[in-house]
Amino acid sequence: MADATRRLFMALWPEPALAGRLQAVSAEAFKVCGGRQMRAKTLHLTLVFVGDVPESRIPALLEAMGCVDGRPFQLTVDKLAYWKHNRIVWGGCSEPAAALGKLVNDIRGQVVALGLAGGSEAFSPHITLLRKARPLGELPSLRPVEWPVREWVLMKSCRSAAGADYRRLAAWPLSQAADV
Ligand code: 2AM
Repeated sequence: MADATRRLFMALWPEPALAGRLQAVSAEAFKVCGGRQMRAKTLHLTLVFVGDVPESRIPALLEAMGCVDGRPFQLTVDKLAYWKHNRIVWGGCSEPAAALGKLVNDIRGQVVALGLAGGSEAFSPHITLLRKARPLGELPSLRPVEWPVREWVLMKSCRSAAGADYRRLAAWPLSQAADV
């Protein structure tokens, strides 16, 4: 029988207090754009979207993720933008930390080495705030939200008529390099 699959992605997931601040930004954007607000507990920044992974490959994926050696960094979420092609309003950084790009490349490298899809398109770091949005005016300017990033997570996505629900499968800390 074919192996069951799980829809997986790696992400940065904000602590509840930070998710609340991002949700407040989303509420401001909603006033101008309408659409559907993402729930605070589902707000995240996807690092690598892997898609459907056979369950039998998950242990190898977990082991490979343990080899990713990332450092803590700071994200400043200071801009709102709209993608017309999918009608998403998202929050992002005008100057994403270099460590974010490195983390994504390292994860992608491990995922691709396993023969799984790690996404070949350019990485566009974004936090989806509204879906099915349609801005009727300028997007509000944003008081920057500081996000100290200390870990990244492997998530499972379960889709239903009510939208996507996410379950955390594992987390890896970003740790300071040891002094030598
Ligand atoms: P989105 O918010 O821009 O839709 C779970 O679906 C997460 O993976 C979401 O953050 C989603 O981004 C992201 N993602 C990236 N590529 C995807 C793809 N091809 N299909 C579905 N989700 C994708």
